[in-house]
Formats: sequence, structure tokens, C-alpha cells
Amino acid sequence: MLYSNIFLEPSEDGITTLTINRPDKLNALSVATMCELDDALRCVEHDSEHRALILTGAGEKAFVAGADINELVEATPLEWKARCLRDQAIMRRLETMPKASIAAINGYALGGGLELAMCCTLRVAAESAKLGLPEVKIGVFPGNGGTQRLPRLVGRGRALEMMLTGKWIDAAEAERIGLVNHVVPQAELVPFCRNLLKAILENAPVAAALILECVDVGLRCGIEEGLQFEAAASAAVAASADRAEGTRAFLERRRPVYRGR
Ligand code: COA
Repeated sequence: MLYSNIFLEPSEDGITTLTINRPDKLNALSVATMCELDDALRCVEHDSEHRALILTGAGEKAFVAGADINELVEATPLEWKARCLRDQAIMRRLETMPKASIAAINGYALGGGLELAMCCTLRVAAESAKLGLPEVKIGVFPGNGGTQRLPRLVGRGRALEMMLTGKWIDAAEAERIGLVNHVVPQAELVPFCRNLLKAILENAPVAAALILECVDVGLRCGIEEGLQFEAAASAAVAASADRAEGTRAFLERRRPVYRGR
């Protein structure tokens, strides 16, 4: 697929950068942009040249300023529902990929932009970033996972305050409440994310993929089922070549060479 609203840039170290590229519209998520994002995420998920992902927005002003409001004016309720379900599935693909992803939040992350960032494994914000779910201000709704993921990340009270007032918060506040993992100067944002992913990629890939899956499963079920799943995942890791290599390398006082098997 030829992209006109995003850039997908693989790199030799396996860390691919996906940039939403509509800076004149603050990278708003149009239907066409979501289609391209869907295609790109499928590539990242299935192709082994992509080992980890940085998701960011073009320009200095915005990560993503939400769904494209121009496309929201005429939609009927059933069209809305279909669009919600489709966009939710695209974002869920990002959330459940067995590969680490970081949202490099380089400015406004509003509405669908914050909902997209919340599907990444981690979030790092530039000092100038502003984050919020302001849909209620224009009579619409955070229907791409906002009502579900924000309370899970920051707790019910804070999430409800953000969604009901529609007010956005700055990067420092987002870090304080756990919505982002780190805040860094804008110029250091992408290098910082890259270093964080490099540190993740040095570790055993099989264990890392199963940590991602266990946390996702655990957040969807009760503690008993979560612990059962964890034990089964632990057994799968124990059967991996990565485990044999990692433990042997420790005892032989050398760096492990993992193959993700
Ligand atoms: N959808 C479509 N276009 C958008 C957009 C969105 N979500 N957010 C910004 N844009 C467009 C603006 O219409 C403008 O386009 P134009 O130059 O053709 O008129 C351009 O991006 C720049 O935005 P502008 O509003 O002029 O920038 P600003 O610095 O004054 O304000 C924001 C920045 C983010 C505060 C403001 O753009 C905004 O409130 N955007 C909507 C945020 C939102 O409600 N998101 C949830 C949507 S459901």
C-alpha cells in the first residue's frame, strides 16, 4: 500500500518509526489515515525486520489532535458505531502486538490521539505535550477505548475528571499521574525512546513477548485466571532456547545472545 498520511521507516537496529504525517491538520486521524495505520501495523506485527515501534506525529506541534472532526459532522449513529468498532480493532492490534511500542508524544495528544497513545506499551512526552480527551466539549464521545483504557492507567477518579471536564493536562501532570512514563525535552524525545527500546531489545524476546501478553490478559480477567495464565506462560518461557542461553550466559559471565526461540 502506498502511504500519503503516514511514514513507516524501518531501521537496521529493528526499531521502526511510524509517523502520522498530516502536520497541517495537527495529524488528525482521518478515515484514510486509519486505513494506512492499519496496513502499517499489520506489517510491523508480522514482519520480523520490525522488532519494536516508535509512534509519533509530524511537526513540532502535535502527536495527534484527535479524530478528523471534518468527518464527524455528517455521520449517522450506525456509521459512528461501525467506525468506532473498526478504529478500536486497529488500536487493539497495536496494543496486543507481541512487540514493544512507545508513543513519542511530541505535542497535542487529544481525543483519538491520546487513545492511540494509550495502546502503546509505553508513553514518553515532550515537555510541551498536552494530553486530554476533550470530546465532550464538542458533543462527541471518546469511543476509541478512552473510557476503558484511561481509568485503567490513571484510576477512575482522575479519568472521569479528564473525560467529563474535557480539560487537557500538561506533560508534567501526565507523568505525575502515570499517564506517561517519562517527560523529556522535545529535541531528546525520539533518541530517548530509541534508547528505551534498545534496552528492551537487549533482553530475551520470548520472555518479553509473554510479559506483554500476560499483562494484557491479566487486565481483562480476575487474579486467579491471571495467575494461571502467568504460570502457563512461565512454563512456555522455561522451554525456550532464550531461557537456556540467558541462564548459561549468566553462569559463564558473558553477554547472552538471544535468538527469540
Ligand atoms: N480534526 C480536524 N482538523 C483539526 C483537528 C481535528 N481533530 N485538530 C486541528 N485541526 C486542524 C484545524 O482545523 C486547523 O486547520 P486549518 O488550518 O485548515 O483551519 C489546523 O489543524 C490547525 O489547528 P488550529 O486549531 O488552528 O491550531 P491551534 O494551535 O489554534 O489549536 C488545538 C490547537 C489542538 C487546541 C485545536 O486544533 C483543537 O482544539 N483541535 C481539536 C481537538 C479535539 O477536540 N480533538 C478531539 C476530536 S474528537
